Amino acid sequence: MPAPFVAFVPPPQIQRGWAGPVARPFYNAGKLFPGESLAVAHLRSFRNTDPPRLVEVWNQAFPGRGAVHLRNSTPLERFVLAKLYFDPAGLILAEDAGRCVGFVHSAVVDPGQGPKQGVICMLGILPSHRGRGIGRELLRRTEQHLLERGAEIFLAGGYDRSNPFYFGVYGGANCPGFLQSNPEAEAFFVKHGYRTQQTVLILQRQLDVPLRVSDPRFGALRNQYQIAMRSPRRLKDWWQECTVGVVEPLEFVLTDRAGAVKARALAWEMEGFSARWGWPAVGVIDFEVDPPERRLGLGKYLLSAILKQLQEQYFQTVEVQIDEANKSAINFLSPLGFEQVDLGRVFAKDVPKS
Ligand SMILES: CC(C)(COP(=O)(O)OP(=O)(O)OC[C@H]1O[C@@H](n2cnc3c(N)ncnc32)[C@H](O)[C@@H]1OP(=O)(O)O)[C@@H](O)C(=O)NCCC(=O)NCCS
Repeated sequence: MPAPFVAFVPPPQIQRGWAGPVARPFYNAGKLFPGESLAVAHLRSFRNTDPPRLVEVWNQAFPGRGAVHLRNSTPLERFVLAKLYFDPAGLILAEDAGRCVGFVHSAVVDPGQGPKQGVICMLGILPSHRGRGIGRELLRRTEQHLLERGAEIFLAGGYDRSNPFYFGVYGGANCPGFLQSNPEAEAFFVKHGYRTQQTVLILQRQLDVPLRVSDPRFGALRNQYQIAMRSPRRLKDWWQECTVGVVEPLEFVLTDRAGAVKARALAWEMEGFSARWGWPAVGVIDFEVDPPERRLGLGKYLLSAILKQLQEQYFQTVEVQIDEANKSAINFLSPLGFEQVDLGRVFAKDVPKS
């Protein structure tokens, strides 16, 4: 199962002769953008002293189930600002009388095939400052930034491997674009010329509901295959190390007698989301059965074992996210008791032809 190519288009200061990990420079020179002062706010790029101010906006702008409630700026540092490819020019703040009232964060992702994606990862405005054109200005400024960095399509809401930031603090088990539980996002982006590009189902199973899975194939599978849980020393690739690696996921693998891996999945403890929901939750990502081994019951066998293991550890909820077009996964998960709790959407807009 080779990992697909994904690369982030780094900021110019890194493109010039970057020789590997570097300490994050001190960004204290967040510039005012000339001529970009609104009636009540002006825009500028990120400074190192901004994280506590971003926390205030975050908690008020994203009160829904799909965003972690931040008690301090540490999760933002961990999941966003500490990334090697973090570019302060991509994080733009709106200020009103010295107070941060909104922000937008975007980056260019090169998926290897197809256009370079200018991904708007987050956009939030304080409720008290909505309806004043601040969101529109932030969007305009971030699209301009993405064009300068070579974006060939705009995407609003990062999905899975198209999201360089916010895994672990927004979206749940993975990055599903912007959630329906943030209803303003869809209306805002549609109003500004974006169309829905992808819809992602957020599915959860309550683990206090007993697991009754019977399948006549399981007896034979038990003799042929082994399931193990381990802490992987390496993840799929550099991208996954950068994003998912932060939460140190566990890996479940199903191997045949010769030791060949036939199915696998990663599971991680969704600490921030568990605190918001009030019960312990686990996210399962990258659940995959080798294509030649599908429709033999291996997926059901592995997922049942994972659910049982999580039940024994007193987790209460397990979450997976799947594209709504992935009918085989929907058919696979529904009989195992997974139900939809939310919906994520990725919006797209073509870049203007110059
Ligand atoms: C979805 C996936 C994990 C299923 O694995 P699998 O080993 O083929 O599934 P199983 O053989 O255990 O199937 C169990 C049940 O799921 C349903 N199912 C699985 N694949 C299906 C398909 N392609 N079409 C319709 N139903 C399907 C069936 O009800 C099946 O029961 P049956 O064999 O008695 O008809 C596998 O297709 C896969 O790896 N897909 C790519 C990765 C992915 O989509 N991951 C997300 C899943 S969380």
